[in-house]
Amino acid sequence: MISLAILASGNGSNAEAIMNFFEQNPSQGSVALVIASNEQAYVLERAKNHGVKSLCISKKMMNSEPDLLRATLADAKIDVVVLAGYMLLIPRDVVAMFPNKIINIHPALLPKFGGKGMYGGNVHNAVIANKETESGITIHFVNEQYDKGDVIFQAKCEVLEDDDADTLAAKIHTLEHKFYPQIINQVIAQL
Ligand code: GRF
Repeated sequence: MISLAILASGNGSNAEAIMNFFEQNPSQGSVALVIASNEQAYVLERAKNHGVKSLCISKKMMNSEPDLLRATLADAKIDVVVLAGYMLLIPRDVVAMFPNKIINIHPALLPKFGGKGMYGGNVHNAVIANKETESGITIHFVNEQYDKGDVIFQAKCEVLEDDDADTLAAKIHTLEHKFYPQIINQVIAQL
């Protein structure tokens, strides 16, 4: 049985989809811990509603205690880390501890529209400004650079002329909620 930790910074709709999936398909993995990067993140409420242990580790906390994230994941005996809208860079010691066992989702078709500053509405606005006719999601392993780890899976959607950042975000979220839990399950099945 693989123990998963979800790291998130905001609303946590992907975290919700992942918790639902592993409650319904508990054979290979379960969500043991949710870590939010700020106290206000709604994902903490979602974790509570699912009876999943949750805590906040902020940037400030990591700055004053650089080993905190690694030690927390080690203490909880986490096998695989899932990033779901997590806004902080994963420290090197954590990347080293989980080789090809940290998974991220990016709301565009990497390598396009990735890298520092490319998150949330910024990504969708850039896709629209560039007159792309398609966008999508990229699920990938995490290394020391933003959005540069090996790609595991991509799925596409159309970008229509009248799409704005909100309508595109809604299409992307639909793809994310459908595929992210399944792909995580496939990755952990191979461990
Ligand atoms: C998702 O679009 C994900 O691709 C990106 O951040 C967003 C998080 O959304 N990394 P939510 O908090 O899961 O609703």
